[in-house]
Amino acid sequence: MPGTAIIGLQWGDEAKGKIVDLLTEQHDIVVRYQGGANAGHTVVTDGKKFKLSLIPSGIFRSHVQCVIAGGVVLNPSSILQEISSLLAQGIKIGSNLMISDRAHVIFPWHSIADRLLNNIGDSEPIGTTLRGIGPCYEDKLGRSLAIRVGDLYKPDLKEKIKHIIGVKNQLLLELTNRCNKTMDMTNPIAELNPETIYKEYAGYAEQLRPYVADTTNYLLNAVDADKRILFEGAQGALLDIDHGTFPYVTSSNSSSTGIFSGSGVPFYFLKKVIGIAKAYTTRVGGGPCPTEQDNNIGQQIRDRGNEYGTVTKRPRRCGWFDAVAVRYSARLCGISTLAIMLLDVLSGFDTLQICTAYEIDGQRLNYFPSQIDDLRKVVPVYETLSGWKEDISAITKYNDLPFNAKCYVKRVAELIGRPVEIVSVGPDRRQTITSTLSE
Ligand code: GDP
Ligand code: IMO
Ligand code: MG
Repeated sequence: MPGTAIIGLQWGDEAKGKIVDLLTEQHDIVVRYQGGANAGHTVVTDGKKFKLSLIPSGIFRSHVQCVIAGGVVLNPSSILQEISSLLAQGIKIGSNLMISDRAHVIFPWHSIADRLLNNIGDSEPIGTTLRGIGPCYEDKLGRSLAIRVGDLYKPDLKEKIKHIIGVKNQLLLELTNRCNKTMDMTNPIAELNPETIYKEYAGYAEQLRPYVADTTNYLLNAVDADKRILFEGAQGALLDIDHGTFPYVTSSNSSSTGIFSGSGVPFYFLKKVIGIAKAYTTRVGGGPCPTEQDNNIGQQIRDRGNEYGTVTKRPRRCGWFDAVAVRYSARLCGISTLAIMLLDVLSGFDTLQICTAYEIDGQRLNYFPSQIDDLRKVVPVYETLSGWKEDISAITKYNDLPFNAKCYVKRVAELIGRPVEIVSVGPDRRQTITSTLSE
């Protein structure tokens, strides 16, 4: 089975990092192909916790080649920090990490624009991670003001940076003037000095040089050689720029559609997509979340699941499992099987709710709406299931789960229309149930 993908089916943070780490053992190559340092993937091994933003979660197994493909937007300072931090913790990073020369580079003007754009207008802010992701993808699509990793090594880099800063100064000044006055953003463009930025980025380029390669060509050769490739999605399908809850999304194709554009690998190579979903719902940032519980229930889930952003530390919005949303994502991403994560967090509730349909103005809606205004209006229709009290975090066999926990998993599988392959009951590699889910 050469190509397998791990895709989040909700609004991110479904615990993709844990599953990528687990499955890495059976793969030769792990690829990040979209997003950037907005992602925060956690891997826990032997009680040690690692947080990854750009480096693929396969980095902990030394036989595996980790690839950051061309669809990623790369902040050189972030990745260098991540590399040093992992090296300091004894993780081997050298020829096992490859960075695409096609990846687009995040510069300070992208992060400034991200801050300004988050404060413009009267509507609810997108609430981005402020990592400059959206503005960098804007420049990629616009082309004229973009710099790719490969460009960092070209003789005209200094001139290019000077030219871009000239244009960005005007644009950022205009954005600053239109920004909400409450924002602390006095003279943001004073930060943009061409000479300083050139020197800084030329320095990063030298440090990154050993890792930079034509990853598209590398991956196409790997496809020809029938290598086993694992694609590590960042964010989740509902944050997809084209198919998610626009405009409250990220700026890349975070559903499985992004695999092919982001990595260059042809679609026929992908044989399996594992959809990762929490046993409940979380969302960080703005935008509707129909099953959100802005009450004691949400707080209980947040406390038990330690639901605070890996990257931004923001409290995550928590609620019941939304089968309408996840079924949509599962179909969109063409998933083969499901991994149900953080089931242990639901221990202790007398009853649990699953949203099985939406209603708008009393009318049943059995699909996930395309327009944000409609999604804001939906009223979830809930089915109530009995809870369980037992701590399930040490259980390793499906049949040893409490009866009601098995009923919950079974019902989720039925509603999504896909079999459950993995149930996770804790952050550690060992806290994973992969035995046949027979009952
Ligand atoms: P990702 O972005 O999809 O990789 O997910 P994050 O790392 O941002 O968030 C998932 C969090 O849940 C991390 O802190 C994980 O260590 C933790 N985690 C993963 N699986 C489980 C689980 O089954 N139970 C519990 N309680 N925590 C888990
Ligand atoms: P992982 O890979 C959860 C959210 C932000 C914001 C929106 C746009 O860890 O699952 P951006 O900075 O991308 O322009 O922000 O997307 N977001 C995430 N939420 N997990 C993530 O990544 C996210 N990456 C972006 O909170 O609502
Ligand atoms: Mg995360």
